[in-house]
Amino acid sequence: MHAWLCENPIGVDALTWQERPTPQPGAGEVLIRIEAASLNFPDLLIVQNKYQMKPPLPFVPGSEYAGTIEAVGEGVTHLKVGQAVACLSGTGGFGTHTLAPAKLCMPLPAGFPAVDAAAFIMTYATSHHALMDRGQLKAGETVLVLGAAGGVGTAAIQIAKAAGARVIAAASNAEKCALCTSIGADATINYSTENLREALKTLTDGKGPDIIYDPVGGEFAEPAFRSIAWRGRYLVVGFAAGPIPALPWNLALLKGASIVGVFWGDFSRREPAANAAMMQELAQWYGAGKIKPVIHNTLPMAQLKQAYADMGSRGVMGKLVMVN
Ligand SMILES: NC(=O)c1ccc[n+]([C@@H]2O[C@H](COP(=O)([O-])OP(=O)(O)OC[C@H]3O[C@@H](n4cnc5c(N)ncnc54)[C@H](OP(=O)(O)O)[C@@H]3O)[C@@H](O)[C@H]2O)c1
Repeated sequence: MHAWLCENPIGVDALTWQERPTPQPGAGEVLIRIEAASLNFPDLLIVQNKYQMKPPLPFVPGSEYAGTIEAVGEGVTHLKVGQAVACLSGTGGFGTHTLAPAKLCMPLPAGFPAVDAAAFIMTYATSHHALMDRGQLKAGETVLVLGAAGGVGTAAIQIAKAAGARVIAAASNAEKCALCTSIGADATINYSTENLREALKTLTDGKGPDIIYDPVGGEFAEPAFRSIAWRGRYLVVGFAAGPIPALPWNLALLKGASIVGVFWGDFSRREPAANAAMMQELAQWYGAGKIKPVIHNTLPMAQLKQAYADMGSRGVMGKLVMVN
């Protein structure tokens, strides 16, 4: 097998494509032949030693992937050789093969291509958990999605629409706004050229959005929160812009509003039954055509460094997927 190896987490340049012995699965593991692996924001951080999870060195990055099971370890009864699966295990995806814990593998129904499956779990699970569970979204409510053309943002638009919401998508350029419209957003705001607060006032008749989905943080968090509706829920999803915003608490009081944390990874570990039910619903929505990953581009696995550069430069819309 071959894989991108991180021996020194000082950045993407230090990754090397190496031949490695193909491992055999231990108890509770499966060996997967990887067909596709997507880039998620943590993949960018983990090779720079900036992510909360710090795997022992050396490691193969690649948090999320899909492929076919080639061998199963002792005690694995629900998966078999030849089965198509998707998996989000945190590492291992940027190669031709990997070992994965069987309990993290999602069996794929027929008609679920590997490229879509590799770009599915992280973004859709995060956005469903955020909007439906933490945000308690109801049909007819208005959702503002910040960073709406990104990985979790595009999933949030589709899920909010599937749940019957009106969606306002906010992004940093016209091309990104057009993409959001093409996947169902009812209105868009280009926050590089428009005043976010004024635009939200106009688009909601002064009422403000009921839910704000924020994977970006930074400079737009406070103006967005100032615009939230009475009883609004502000979903704290991530800080792609870097700075972690600080809000004056009186703003929450004035709107009877909630600041709601979203941590899908811990939700899946602490509440596995609820997470499994959610994943089942998402797979059904995919089968029914209500949701579908937005694939910016697919690149050969050998071009991983190019993919990292594209993601780091804020140029990706939806998801980048590496293929073998
Ligand atoms: N809480 C959870 O459970 C959870 C789960 C998954 C991901 N996340 C977090 O969610 C965030 C977004 O993840 P993602 O996979 O959607 O990433 P992504 O595809 O790269 O999208 C991030 C978006 O943020 C915006 N952005 C603003 N400033 C940026 C900057 N300096 N660098 C990069 N992007 C910037 C960009 O949109 P514009 O150009 O339009 O502004 C971009 O489309 C990350 O912080 C990630 O860690 C959280």
